[in-house]
Amino acid sequence: MGAERLAMRDQPGDHSRMTGAPEELLSAQQIQERVSALGAEIARDYADKSLVLLCVLKGSFVFAADLARAIDLPLRVEFLGVRSYGDDTKSSGVVQITQDLTRPLSGDDHILLVEDIVDTGLTLSYLREQLLARLPASVKVCALLHKPSRTVRPVEIDYLGFTVEDVFVVGYGLDYAERYRNVPYVGVLKS
Ligand code: IMP
Ligand code: MG
Repeated sequence: MGAERLAMRDQPGDHSRMTGAPEELLSAQQIQERVSALGAEIARDYADKSLVLLCVLKGSFVFAADLARAIDLPLRVEFLGVRSYGDDTKSSGVVQITQDLTRPLSGDDHILLVEDIVDTGLTLSYLREQLLARLPASVKVCALLHKPSRTVRPVEIDYLGFTVEDVFVVGYGLDYAERYRNVPYVGVLKS
């Protein structure tokens, strides 16, 4: 097989080699428009405040990268590594912090937790408690997606991208068994 054919097949936008490309639920453009609007709203609300975007790894890395660039304010970016035990498509609510912040929070810091998806709400309510105990100026939540039908512990989402039905979604950072994070849109796996 020639180099040209290989190059064609391996174009970055071609996700067809993944067994069953996800069915598109939210297009890359829909997501970008919503992220821009959220960024503008956050920039208005946090003007003159010390804003720390706290990206919850791994699923939020794509959303946080786009959101950070949509907020026209000086801000800090921190990462929190979190692992939730359970089978592949269900959250157990037992959350382990696998990577902590690189710098301590100060009493002037306004924390904005950036989450890919709020499903049962167990991860987020645990993280909120952990962060509030460190006494920052405030802790708020920005989530790309919310599945309200699966709520176990209600959490307030201050900035929300989209509400989705009770389906398992992948892409734009979200994975199924560590795959599909690089798909540029949010989709549903075909069974
Ligand atoms: P929660 O604790 O049930 O709210 O779940 C939070 C975490 O579970 C999210 O941050 C995701 O990492 C993962 N998760 C929940 N639903 C989905 C989904 O539909 N696709 C991919 N990951 C999901
Ligand atoms: Mg997550």
